[in-house]
Amino acid sequence: MDAIVYTSHTGSTERYARLLGRRTGLPVWPLTEAERALPPGAEIVYLGWLLCGGINGYRTAAGRYWVRAVCAVGMGPTGSQTELVRRRNGVPPAVPVFTVQGGLQPEKLRGVYRRMLDTLVQTAGAALAGKRERTAEEDGALELLLRGGDCVRPEALDAAARWLERTERCGLLLARADGCPA
Ligand SMILES: Cc1cc2nc3c(=O)[nH]c(=O)nc-3n(C[C@H](O)[C@H](O)[C@H](O)COP(=O)(O)O)c2cc1C
Repeated sequence: MDAIVYTSHTGSTERYARLLGRRTGLPVWPLTEAERALPPGAEIVYLGWLLCGGINGYRTAAGRYWVRAVCAVGMGPTGSQTELVRRRNGVPPAVPVFTVQGGLQPEKLRGVYRRMLDTLVQTAGAALAGKRERTAEEDGALELLLRGGDCVRPEALDAAARWLERTERCGLLLARADGCPA
């Protein structure tokens, strides 16, 4: 693995990328600057924030680099909706998708994203608020939509970090022609 590359608007994805970088020792680059540092086809883990189901920057990253794993940062609970996110973004089956909760920070949103959030609050927020019974997950989503919140937690990266450690170990073993444990 060569690097961790990310796209962030209000900072939570950047914090996750830096946490993962510290945990793994891999260099960390914003997608906008990665071209200066990484050759085309470099092996990366890509972190992008979720915008109406799309992983921001994923298509660009996948066009330039060999994306080995994807980490989507959104307002849903860590580990939720991974298959939906995979389908919506066309992530190939062999590439693991991790989802982690970043939160929602309306005060940091700029331009079109601020206006999109207002629409989201009026539509999805109103629909959730109007439900007679809500799951705990829906309660959390409504709370975030109405009041915002910072949900970045280092342990949300555990699954992605474990996958990376396993993959790096396998790479080393294969390089030594020792075989790769399951
Ligand atoms: C307009 C808008 C649309 C969003 N759509 C989604 C979404 O589809 N799924 C989700 O889980 N989070 C969604 N979010 C929440 C962001 O992905 C979340 O706030 C994320 O932590 C932002 O990352 P950043 O701080 O790196 O910019 C949306 C936020 C905004 C403002």
